[in-house]
Amino acid sequence: MTRARLIRQWPLIVLPALLLGCTGEKPRIIEEKCSTCHPSSFVYKEKRTMPEWDRILFGMKARGLKITPGEEKQVRDILSRDFSRE
Ligand code: HEC
Repeated sequence: MTRARLIRQWPLIVLPALLLGCTGEKPRIIEEKCSTCHPSSFVYKEKRTMPEWDRILFGMKARGLKITPGEEKQVRDILSRDFSRE
């Protein structure tokens, strides 16, 4: 690869690394469980009350979310800590 070509292609190398770096900041359990059917940004978009989150989690399970009770507790803990409002 010539030097000029390397310079032209740097975004192809750097941008995915940046994107991966960003997802590293997000809670892993939500990235794993909540990004298969829609982007996980659906989850971070809005703060909700815990009764609303419970209704959403129930709805996601009805749509086919596979989650163990332990994982669901982790997800609820993160939602109540960082994504809930009164
Ligand atoms: C089996 C597929 C599936 C999985 C897995 C899934 N969802 Fe969803 N989710 C959907 C679908 C389909 C919609 C969009 C349409 C709807 O609300 O009916 C949606 C919409 C949403 C919305 C937007 C609802 C609104 O009314 O604004 C939120 C918030 C959400 N999901 C949260 C989650 C969370 C949190 C998880 C992980 C615990 C999750 N989802 C995992 C299928 C899924």
